[in-house]
Amino acid sequence: MSLRTDSVVAIYPGSFDPLTNGHLDLIHRGRRLVGKLIVSVLNNQAKHPLFTVEERMEMLREATADIDNVEVDSFDGLLTDYAVRRGAGVIMRGIRAISDYEYELQMALMNRRLRPNIETMFLLAGEGNSFLSSRMVKEVARLGGNVSGLVPAAVERRLAARFSAAGPESKV
Ligand code: PNS
Repeated sequence: MSLRTDSVVAIYPGSFDPLTNGHLDLIHRGRRLVGKLIVSVLNNQAKHPLFTVEERMEMLREATADIDNVEVDSFDGLLTDYAVRRGAGVIMRGIRAISDYEYELQMALMNRRLRPNIETMFLLAGEGNSFLSSRMVKEVARLGGNVSGLVPAAVERRLAARFSAAGPESKV
């Protein structure tokens, strides 16, 4: 059964530092609901990311290359202004555990205040991904743990390369 509303453009914003299988699951499920899903990487140097915006976009592009209605982009400034520029009426976010809810609620309400016509749509993370975060993945990879099955293979390779080059003292 198709649930898709073809005229809807949605944005799935995030840090994606790096993309995990939890994000990817959300992309696959979310893109079935809309005409176009723009997955957009926040360009925020203040967060001291492990991967550059370009690297993060490349990983997203590799992982979504076979999906026709997904576009990868980046943004800075206010998310709602970016959504208006891109003609998007929906912001999509994922919720894992109840601990995500408060932060997501604050963001959604602030975004609604800024742009009342933009709706935030929440998808629940898949049960198997409810413990998964980019931060944990980076920590495990940095300490030499196995992250296979938690991130796409291309991301796993990049993590291995980054940490073998940098050594275990590098920042997460
Ligand atoms: O993956 P993350 O780090 O949880 O994503 C957070 C993100 C990018 C969605 C959020 O920080 C954001 O939208 N930043 C843009 C600045 C903005 O619009 N702030 C006001 C709304 S809280």
